[in-house]
Amino acid sequence: MVLNQDTTIGRKPSHAIIYVKKNENKVRIRFISVKSREVDTLKRFFSGVQPSGNLTIGNYLGAIKQFVELQHEPDAEAFYCVVDMHAITVAQDPEELRRRTREIAQIYLACGVDPKQATVFIQSHVKEHAELGWLLQCASYMGELNRMTQFKDKAEGKANVNVGLFTYPILMAADILLYDTTHVPVGNDQKQHIELTRDIAERFNNKYGDTFVIPEPKIQEFGARIMALDEPTKKMSKSAESEASRIAILETPDVFKKKIMRAVTDTENSIAFDETNKPGISNLLTIYSMFADESIESLVERYHGQGYGTLKKDLVEVVTEQLSKIQQRFNEYNDVAELDKILRAGAEKASVIAEQTCNRVKDAMGLLRI
Ligand code: TYM
Repeated sequence: MVLNQDTTIGRKPSHAIIYVKKNENKVRIRFISVKSREVDTLKRFFSGVQPSGNLTIGNYLGAIKQFVELQHEPDAEAFYCVVDMHAITVAQDPEELRRRTREIAQIYLACGVDPKQATVFIQSHVKEHAELGWLLQCASYMGELNRMTQFKDKAEGKANVNVGLFTYPILMAADILLYDTTHVPVGNDQKQHIELTRDIAERFNNKYGDTFVIPEPKIQEFGARIMALDEPTKKMSKSAESEASRIAILETPDVFKKKIMRAVTDTENSIAFDETNKPGISNLLTIYSMFADESIESLVERYHGQGYGTLKKDLVEVVTEQLSKIQQRFNEYNDVAELDKILRAGAEKASVIAEQTCNRVKDAMGLLRI
């Protein structure tokens, strides 16, 4: 690996980890060789959210809640990104996209992501995401992209589909691989994309020599797929047409109360967790359990013999309590200059690692660097 000597400030032989200093940032560059990886126990978490709609409690429970928990893990580093370049794979209003990009970062902080514990930044501020995206496009196959179910869903029925929507999973692979990520906290819908990332990375390593760390998805047992309230066999989505399908993180109780009370269940009126036969009530139990931090078994026991209406009414209270805390903190982080300072520092720190990885890939592929 080529390292700029001026910026290398230390090496810890036992871990074969190199420290690089750039401006104010001292950043750990952890990947050197397979050998170093064997002794390096550091975990690195990377994940991202698209600024493509109002974030929902699905995004919170499936992903952001994990971000907050993982940032405190010992011997681990966390990188959380607002993936604005992914959002432009579908039409966006430019002003609205800019507004939402900051809003997502503000939501991260409001949910408890601590910029002292985790690196928070905007994808397009680190140019290597696009750069590695291209390099990996030249190491990926049409056939494997054709199999992506999310592309099929999003492209279905559309006359003109842009190429970015098709190659999107490669940009996602670049996001993850740039940071020598070991674990990717996501909801269940991203599993296929992470499997593709692993395939691309493994194939690249076999062809060009050891270059990438192979990441693993980190998907929770519960809450990995929060379902739409009005159609509980479909995933809750920030971009679905139906407003009744989702609860936005920044929504007030007067708006989401009706949605919970009208949530589609079944006619049995008996509270049990059975995702196949009772998807609606199972979804409400999952949301309740995750917000109230109480097990599903305990909820089923507590609500035994009671009607769905009681459960729904109590769920409104639980969601109100948790979301109002997040919303209060969201309002406290409304200083744009302060937020931008956090995002700039995050991008600067992320860039140091991203540049090293990109150079490693260019060297492996035979691109001349002088
Ligand atoms: P996005 O923006 O659609 O969703 C952000 C995160 O929220 C999770 N999620 C859910 N979890 C549970 N239940 C739901 N109903 C639900 N809806 C969404 C998603 O699984 C995701 O973790 N391609 C990604 C963004 C991305 C990314 C990355 C993620 C780009 N690069 C690199 C991880 C690593 C996406 O569109 O997520």
